[in-house]
Amino acid sequence: MIDKSSPVPIYYQLEELIKKQMENNELQPGDALPSEREYSELHGISRMTVRQAISNLVQNGMLYRQQGKGTFVAERKIEKQLLGLTSFTEDMQGRGVRTWSEVVDFQKVPANLYIASQLEMIVHDEVFEIKRVRMAEGTPMAYETTYLPAKLLQGLTEEAATQSIYLYIDEHLSSPIGSARQTIEASTANDMEADYLQIPEGSPVLLIERTSKLKDGTPIELAKSVYRADRYKFSVDISR
Ligand code: GLP
Repeated sequence: MIDKSSPVPIYYQLEELIKKQMENNELQPGDALPSEREYSELHGISRMTVRQAISNLVQNGMLYRQQGKGTFVAERKIEKQLLGLTSFTEDMQGRGVRTWSEVVDFQKVPANLYIASQLEMIVHDEVFEIKRVRMAEGTPMAYETTYLPAKLLQGLTEEAATQSIYLYIDEHLSSPIGSARQTIEASTANDMEADYLQIPEGSPVLLIERTSKLKDGTPIELAKSVYRADRYKFSVDISR
């Protein structure tokens, strides 16, 4: 309940109340939120205060607005630990989520200067260029472009790429994947990405670039992933 005598701001109390209702499944993904007027009458608080609480929850992605229809509860985000070099398949399977990939492009191309420098190859050496939409229980979560040195992975097939590329590498190369460098940037979905991810063009996305090496130090992958920001968040435990 809202406690008006508490020093905790009322909008914040309402935010917490709504979050609790989401945790208890009293409010579920897709549910319409009561109107500002209903909240204000129910708790005897101003509509301005209700608006602030709801706007904050929209801003952090827990609620979303639909023009002319109202405010709705968003799907829960998948929270991924930043530490730990895992594959998309492992991330999903670890949560008991069924996953596969739609391969939209699978070809060998000559490495350009950037790809060659990241994979420590010579420009024009062949790389696999694989573009995949990564699915979780039928929902597109990420659009990923992966470059792999072709001469190390001669037998790689499109079929294998619908599953886990990391699994393929670990099973077929003498050294397993050992380390990676990863950057995360904010971005917005372009026309094509929005199409594949089934989100409006211009929606916020997380752009993740990873360069991975085998345990023996051989560069093996350059991957650019576009993750839906409405479905994904990253967490890291820190201490001092
Ligand atoms: C994540 C990483 C990619 C990596 C992929 C491998 O999505 N961001 O860099 O290529 O996992 O996933 P999988 O083994 O499921 O194909």
